[in-house]
Amino acid sequence: MKIRAVLLAAGQGTRMRSKLPKLLHPLAGQPMIQHSLAALASISDQVPVVVVGHGAEAVQETVGDAAEFVLQAEQLGTGHALQQAQSALQNKADLVVVCNADLPLISADSLQKLVAAQQGYDGPFSLLTVESEAPRGFGRIVRGDQGQVLAIVEEAEATPEQLALSELNVGAYCFAAEWLWPALEKLKPSAKKGEIYLTDLVEIANSDNLRVTPVLLDDPAEAIGVNTRVHLSQAEAALRRRINEAWMLAGVTILDPNTTYIDRAVQIGQDSTILPNTILQGETHIGENSTIGPNSIIRHSRIGDACKIEASVVEYATIGNHVDAGPFAHLRKGAHLDDGVHIGNFGEVKNSHLGPGVKMGHFSYIGDATIGANTNIGAGTITANYDGKNKNHTEIGENVFIGSDTMLVAPLKIGAGARTGAGAVVTKDVAPNTVVVGIPARAIRKLESPD
Ligand code: UD1
Ligand code: CA
Repeated sequence: MKIRAVLLAAGQGTRMRSKLPKLLHPLAGQPMIQHSLAALASISDQVPVVVVGHGAEAVQETVGDAAEFVLQAEQLGTGHALQQAQSALQNKADLVVVCNADLPLISADSLQKLVAAQQGYDGPFSLLTVESEAPRGFGRIVRGDQGQVLAIVEEAEATPEQLALSELNVGAYCFAAEWLWPALEKLKPSAKKGEIYLTDLVEIANSDNLRVTPVLLDDPAEAIGVNTRVHLSQAEAALRRRINEAWMLAGVTILDPNTTYIDRAVQIGQDSTILPNTILQGETHIGENSTIGPNSIIRHSRIGDACKIEASVVEYATIGNHVDAGPFAHLRKGAHLDDGVHIGNFGEVKNSHLGPGVKMGHFSYIGDATIGANTNIGAGTITANYDGKNKNHTEIGENVFIGSDTMLVAPLKIGAGARTGAGAVVTKDVAPNTVVVGIPARAIRKLESPD
């Protein structure tokens, strides 16, 4: 049985009061539309058809080749939106799963249950419903004496008695394609709003004496639809809870899930611990047995095993194993710390490679530099990497001892085993195993090479 999915994504989302199309607002670090696309990916091996309209270009650019697009030039309602997908799907699918794109929490499991329900009988379609005391503008499910679904009544068109109904239409359906396409043509504009409602297909099925199958959602949080930014924050909270719980069940300790924000694309290894007020963003990867936080932001970075990052900001950085950083370290784009590196308080590293075992305990800035293994960077050391025009590189060898408050004026090379005195301003290259002091720094002594 061929199954195809359609995502209805042409609506304007006026109630968001935003210049950004609603479906591109981020949720757990990804545009909202990506969450529904991920759930739909589990029910069909072919890409879904996405109906675009408002903000079509931006939506298409975001989704890329993960979907086929059809345009709904004028947004005349959800039924009209689905009509636009007909030419792309007719004779190409036996079952058509349709989902509103503003339901980012809908799970793959629920969509699979919906498909299974439709596969289990020969009626026209199945739909997800939810029991909720907070209707939030959803269509009400009207049932008959025998529990059969008589109609879905949109809020704008409902009577006071209908408004009181607590079973709601989620906005996800699985249709028998054969029935769907001709039925769609029978839809008429609604009485009050003049929109062509997809939900009127229930009455069309009933008038054909065909029964629609309701599938009740187990978890009402899945039906959180996003129409306003208040809803967006509710969706974010529910998604955060889901993500955090999944990591805890996978073996990650989260001390306070309420203040831990983990984007959907993040990966965390077993027995790592995430402490309060920590934000893990984008394509971040944390290894095993690492402790992150409290009060840390890790953005698009890779952190290895057994690391400890405390009260620090790490962005676009790569960190090996057994590294500790913070409190108050700032590892910026292109910071690459090898195994066993130690960054203490108020250390900043940008676009630099720190070899294994490098120690940088206090108040330092290292930018555009390469530092060899086991070198010690004294308190207050600064690479003066910018001369007002160009960024210049500093190369420091292995086992170097940079004295406190050294200014390293780039471009500069410091040989292995060298030392700088406290307060030195180094403007010229330093030979290996040489001690330099003063302003500008000059060589005063040659050290015995360690080997
Ligand atoms: C819709 C349902 C309602 C359900 C609710 C739950 C209809 C008529 N009503 O109402 O029963 O309880 O969703 O989520 O379907 N869209 C288009 N083109 C259009 C209009 C909408 O593509 O012309 C898309 C929107 O981008 C959105 C989805 O369809 O992703 C739903 O549209 P929306 O206007 O939000 O419908 P609701 O009023 O929420
Ligand atoms: Ca909606």
